[in-house]
Amino acid sequence: MPHRLLTNNRAWAAATHARDPGFFTRLAQQQNPRYMWIGCADSRVPANEITGLDPGEVFVHRNVANVVVHSDLNALSTIQFAVEHLKVEHIFVVGHYGCAGVRAAMRGIRVGLADNWLRHVHDVRLRHRKRLDHLQPQEQEDILCEMNVIEQVGNVALSTVVQDAWARGQTLSVHGWVYGLRDGLLKDLQVTMDRPDMVVQVFSDAIKRYPRQGGPTAPAADEAHDESLY
Ligand code: CO
Repeated sequence: MPHRLLTNNRAWAAATHARDPGFFTRLAQQQNPRYMWIGCADSRVPANEITGLDPGEVFVHRNVANVVVHSDLNALSTIQFAVEHLKVEHIFVVGHYGCAGVRAAMRGIRVGLADNWLRHVHDVRLRHRKRLDHLQPQEQEDILCEMNVIEQVGNVALSTVVQDAWARGQTLSVHGWVYGLRDGLLKDLQVTMDRPDMVVQVFSDAIKRYPRQGGPTAPAADEAHDESLY
């Protein structure tokens, strides 16, 4: 007896073909997605399903806690292929509330090898700790999910791939979204970057939406510098 997933696959392929007889022939020729999705590997956040997109419409990269590291050749190669060959016009970095990776980074919970990967999220926490430490635990985790997305949007925008695309005059926007497991809704974190000269300011404005302990009068100049993208 075939595995349940293979049985499911047969049924899906048949139903898809019945609905749109040219579907597989068309997609087999080439993919032409307008969107790239960089999300968490979490099984509850499937890019296509929650955005109502068919196969062929979104190019996807996922890892633990949707992190884009400057030296991660896997993520950078995927972004490069998406931007230079597929010419996607939008890259969405999508975090999600209730992310176990973000929670582990926030709480210092050991999970194993992945702790080393999650150091990147822990670094985000440290950079913005004055905006996090005074919050209630649940709020800390939710806000760190958002801040992690904002940081990764900055990392994508500052990557050589995206900088080169903008220098060529290519139309390309980088967005930051967060997904709610409880209601299935995506929230736009208003950190969209589509030109190199706006990156630092958009990042800074997004982070400043989270109040520091002591309110807006609190930040000293050197502390503000600690939180800047450069
Ligand atoms: Co997650």
